[in-house]
This record gives sequence, C-alpha cells and structure tokens, in this order.
Amino acid sequence: MAAQERRVPLVNFNKEYREVGDEIRQAIDRVCESGWYVLGEEVKGFEQEFAEYIGVDHAVGVASGTDAITLALKALGIKEGDGVVVPANVYPSAFGVAHSGAILQLADVSPDTLNLTVRTLGKAVNEETRAVLAVHLYGNPVNIKEVSDYCKNKGLFLIEDCAQATGALYGVKKVGSFGDISCFSFYPTKNLGALGDGGAVVTNNEQLAEKVRLWRMYGEKERYESQLVGHNSRLDEIQAAILRAKLKHVDKWNHKRRAIAERYGNEFSKIPVTPVHDTSLGKAVYHLFVVRAPDRERLVGHLREKGVAVGVHYPQPIHLTKSFAHLGYRLGDFPVSEEASRLVLSLPCHPQMEEADIEQVVEAVKSFYSK
Ligand SMILES: Cc1ncc(COP(=O)(O)O)c(C=O)c1O
Repeated sequence: MAAQERRVPLVNFNKEYREVGDEIRQAIDRVCESGWYVLGEEVKGFEQEFAEYIGVDHAVGVASGTDAITLALKALGIKEGDGVVVPANVYPSAFGVAHSGAILQLADVSPDTLNLTVRTLGKAVNEETRAVLAVHLYGNPVNIKEVSDYCKNKGLFLIEDCAQATGALYGVKKVGSFGDISCFSFYPTKNLGALGDGGAVVTNNEQLAEKVRLWRMYGEKERYESQLVGHNSRLDEIQAAILRAKLKHVDKWNHKRRAIAERYGNEFSKIPVTPVHDTSLGKAVYHLFVVRAPDRERLVGHLREKGVAVGVHYPQPIHLTKSFAHLGYRLGDFPVSEEASRLVLSLPCHPQMEEADIEQVVEAVKSFYSK
C-alpha cells in the first residue's frame, strides 16, 4: 500500500475496543444481568475506585463534564451574577459555567502552555469574582500550587477542570486533588472515555460531595424527598461499569501517550512547529498533542493528503463565539488566546498508535517544511 493511502486517525476507538473488548463486554453483561441500570452498585464502585485513583475522598458520577462543572459550582453556592474566571481559549468549559448562572470572567493564558497562570487570571479578578476554573488543557498541568495559593489569599474557590487530564500529575499528586472541587469528562475521546457521555466531580469535602449528589438528582436526599430544584444528571450503570474496566488501563495508556509526545518533541525540534507543553511541573497525559503551526491551513491540507487526520482545539476563543458575545468582550481583548485559535493544531497521539503511524505523522509534518 502506498504511504498516502495509509490513514492515521486522530483517535482509534475500534482498535481500543479490540484491545479491551472482553473486559467491556463482561462489564456490560454484568449490568444487564443485574437488571439495575441507573445509579447502582457499578456507579458506587466506580466512584470509590476513581476517588482512590485521583487521591481524594469523594467522587460523584454525573452525566457529562459540562454537568460536572455546573453542579460543582452550584454545590459551592455560586449563584446568578457571581463571577467565575475561565480561560478564554477553552471553548468547552464555558457552557458548564454558563448553566450555573455565573458570569464568565474571561482571562488570557500563558503563551508557552496556553494554560491560566496567576498573572493572567489576576487581570480578570474583581469584586464580583467568587471562583476560578483552572483547566488543565490538553492534559498539561496548570501551575496549580501557585493558582491555589492565589485563590486562598483572595478567598476564591478553586475548581479544577480535569476533563482532558485524567491521571496527569502536578509534582507527584494527581490533578483534581488540589481544588476545592474538581471536574472530569468521560466523553469517548477523552483519555479516560466511556462509550457515551459521562462525568465526575471529586472533592475532599464531604459536604460538597453530598451537595453534588443532591444537585445530581432532583435535590433528593432520600427518594422523593426533594430539598432543592435539582437536575437530572445521573451516570448510567453501563457507563460506570465500562469506566471501571478502562480505569485499570489508563496509566499504561497515559504512559504510551507520553512516549509518543516525547518522540514528536524530539523530531520536531528543528522545524517551525512549537509543541504546547511544559514538562517542568509534573507529568502531562497528552489527551491531545498540540503544536503551534505557522501557516496552519496549508499544513492541514498537506497532512490530510499524507493520510494524517488532525484537529483544531479550538478554532474560536470563547469571547468570539456568537453564544458568548453578550459578555461584551472584543477582538483584541485576549491576544494569546486569539492567536492560539489561528495556530494550534492537534496531531494524532493515542495509545493505539503503532510505530508506522508515528513515523507517518513525523514524516508528513517534516516533509511540509522541507518543501
Ligand atoms: C476542558 C473541558 N471542559 C469541559 C468539557 C465538557 O465535557 P463534556 O463534553 O463531557 O460535557 C470538555 C469536553 O469537551 C473539555 O475538554
């Protein structure tokens, strides 16, 4: 087969399923045999195992990462009109915050990591601010100790958005264990993904965990004893059972992602693409391997011709979307985020890649610049 006919996908669900299919089928079968489909023993089991994995006392399974953010904010008592600082370049985090009723206070990010820093978020904080959403973007840890100290000093809640960072380390601790409360997404493409939607909220604070449980289902403490107008945001038993099976593999998969990222880093050191990562703070998990690429659109065309699938995360910063125009920000307000939306490019970086796939990506990128 000619090299160009060979395709390297951005993710490879089929191959992953072939790798862990037996365990997934057993998990699904267990649920079907139990005859209990929503909020049962599998969800409880996953919550315990996931809390232990992250190194926190409590995990609460919910329906998505978006809901995890909304319910976490509600559990903290964030209400209509309160300010929450959100990095301007992380499109998918915005919706969960907006649904809580909070006002998004956008902050720019560091040009090196595209993550929030104390310096960038400090510019967004004002007297309305109650909380900061620190997103470990692409699986790269934020300098969370610095951000946490800042929040403590200012009396702000810290919420970690770990949707792209299951298993990433800041120092020797997993991200998600630093905030007052932290949120995860198990959307299928995530580095721990369900076979459908799912999410979790984790915390060391028992009362906060209890509140998330109330908000997750009609505000009920006991069945039909509603204490607040809660959501319906439950994690299915089938997804929880699948996540329990996949959680056992996530460290090995993260390790593979890191090895591919290291290889790309070395291969691309002499060409004009700049990887967006920082290995100095801990261990990233490379949910995505992102580079800043001058002349991105032409490079995308070239890579597609060479059989390499790519993505752009994200083509618009939050303030330039129609949905969030009402926030009143303008072009030019967040220059690093705006530039990133024009330059960032995600290359295939997933545990099912073979040597030939990695070679093909490397060759395809390098050949663009040697033309
Ligand atoms: C950083 C981040 N936050 C939040 C979300 C929302 O998660 P979900 O798609 O599960 O609602 C995502 C997923 O795209 C994400 O990447």
